[in-house]
Amino acid sequence: MADFRASTIYQIYPKSFCDSNGDGIGDIRGIIEKLDYIKSLGVDYIWSTPFFVSPLNDNGYDVEDYKKINPLFGTMKDVEELIAKAEERGMGLMFDMVFNHTSTRHEWFQKALSGDKEYMDYYIFKDGDPEKPPTNWQSKFGGSAWEYVTSLKKWYLHLFDVTQADLNWENPKVREELKDVIRFWKKKGVKGFRFDVVNLISKPDVFEDDTLGDGRRFYSDGPHIHEFLKELVADTGIDEMVTVGEMSSTTLDNCIRYSNPDEKELSMCFNFHHLKVDYKDGNKWELMNPDYRKLKELFETWQTKMEQKNGWNAVFWCNHDQPRIVSRMGDEKKYWKESAKMLATCIHLLRGTPYIFQGEELGMTNAGYGDISEYRDVESINYYQIMLKEGKNEEEALEVLGNRSRDNSRSPMQWNSGKYAGFSESEPWIGIPDNHKYINVAAEEQDSDSILNYYRKLVRLRKQYAVIQNGTIEFIYREQPEVFGYKRLLKGQELLVVNNLTGSEVVLQEILHFEGYEYLIGNYPQEISGDTLKVLKPYESVVLLKRI
Ligand code: NOJ
Repeated sequence: MADFRASTIYQIYPKSFCDSNGDGIGDIRGIIEKLDYIKSLGVDYIWSTPFFVSPLNDNGYDVEDYKKINPLFGTMKDVEELIAKAEERGMGLMFDMVFNHTSTRHEWFQKALSGDKEYMDYYIFKDGDPEKPPTNWQSKFGGSAWEYVTSLKKWYLHLFDVTQADLNWENPKVREELKDVIRFWKKKGVKGFRFDVVNLISKPDVFEDDTLGDGRRFYSDGPHIHEFLKELVADTGIDEMVTVGEMSSTTLDNCIRYSNPDEKELSMCFNFHHLKVDYKDGNKWELMNPDYRKLKELFETWQTKMEQKNGWNAVFWCNHDQPRIVSRMGDEKKYWKESAKMLATCIHLLRGTPYIFQGEELGMTNAGYGDISEYRDVESINYYQIMLKEGKNEEEALEVLGNRSRDNSRSPMQWNSGKYAGFSESEPWIGIPDNHKYINVAAEEQDSDSILNYYRKLVRLRKQYAVIQNGTIEFIYREQPEVFGYKRLLKGQELLVVNNLTGSEVVLQEILHFEGYEYLIGNYPQEISGDTLKVLKPYESVVLLKRI
């Protein structure tokens, strides 16, 4: 399988990708049908979010059985066929391992609930006053992180939904069970893993109130996290496979350790700091325009420090938890094409492994749901109520959801302009934006200048040029917040990348001289001429290459 440093990874959210059996819900056979399309993007790996048996309270991140396929999505045979057919096309499957918690419907939790001491020790149960949770920690989906079980007279910890109970990684039996899950899927031919919120698995020895925040500082990158990861990787022999950890509220130093090959933990990390630059006072549910200065600083720090210390970033804008980037930092109307391509350019030429989330390559936009009844996501529904309680009116709360809800990225993949966008024959489980009439695969296949074809080109460039895979990085136009610019350098090659983050023309503070460079890619039809650049058009990207 391809070296992860030279690879691009495509993310699929199966429920919304392609419905092969007409029940309005995407499925595994739907993914199989679309493998040639995925291959046509030039990607090396496919990460699919979970399709294991689950009550789907959090769309599969609440796993009831790690080794069985949810019949709603297909069968084990379908999954085996998916792995084999992807491999025939030179692509590897990465499965999503949700090891911080299980569904409360998982057999282990059910046994714990019945009072079985052995299984109670699989989770984090605490004694305490039924009126007062053991700590004041908050669930990431709103409300207390603790739930009281009257029959046991104990509380259990759930950092996410009440139906997602946190596992006790201090218990060696839990760690063995989870290793067994990895071995099971490895044997089936899976080529890599994505580990869900894996930096939350190590809880502190003492559980205490957080007087400064919601508790996250006690369990993010917790005390035994590096030991636990090393053990998991060594005992399952996955150090040669591609692995990515989703790191929640993490630090740079920890991510260096997680991803430095000498540590034998993971290949790379997702961090989310750059996706909080439009959170007012750090609050996801308060809208603000993106702070480009901060965005640039974050990329610069993470890129340069990871390079210096031999760590590796997963680089991305989009996933199933984030709003669509073209709506968020671009202009989905006037400069839809230009801004979507510019944002892709920013990410794909960085040092790190780029991820594309289904539909991002088409410039899919936020879903534009207008009523709370159109939302499906547990977090969105909870926070809608919280926002109303805290004083927003319905219109204001809906505006926040319209920008921040995870359902913005979970609307069905837009395959064509037909009824239900070619996703399904029947009404999908979640609504489809009207813009599928022109934002869809079929239309973009016909247009040589489409966002889709631009993504294909970017993916190809990474394969073609060692400087994109392995070059060092240096940031330019550092003092100009609206310009995101960097150089990549590798003996014999220099890549120059300049992007205008805004919808206005920008005069470069310093003229860009590019004698001896060739034009590699850009998002305006006219290739630049001459050998200097002074002005960038709205959302313009220019990429130049010099062979020394
Ligand atoms: C991160 C996943 O990406 C998200 O969708 C999920 O809700 C939480 N982890 C909890 O598993």
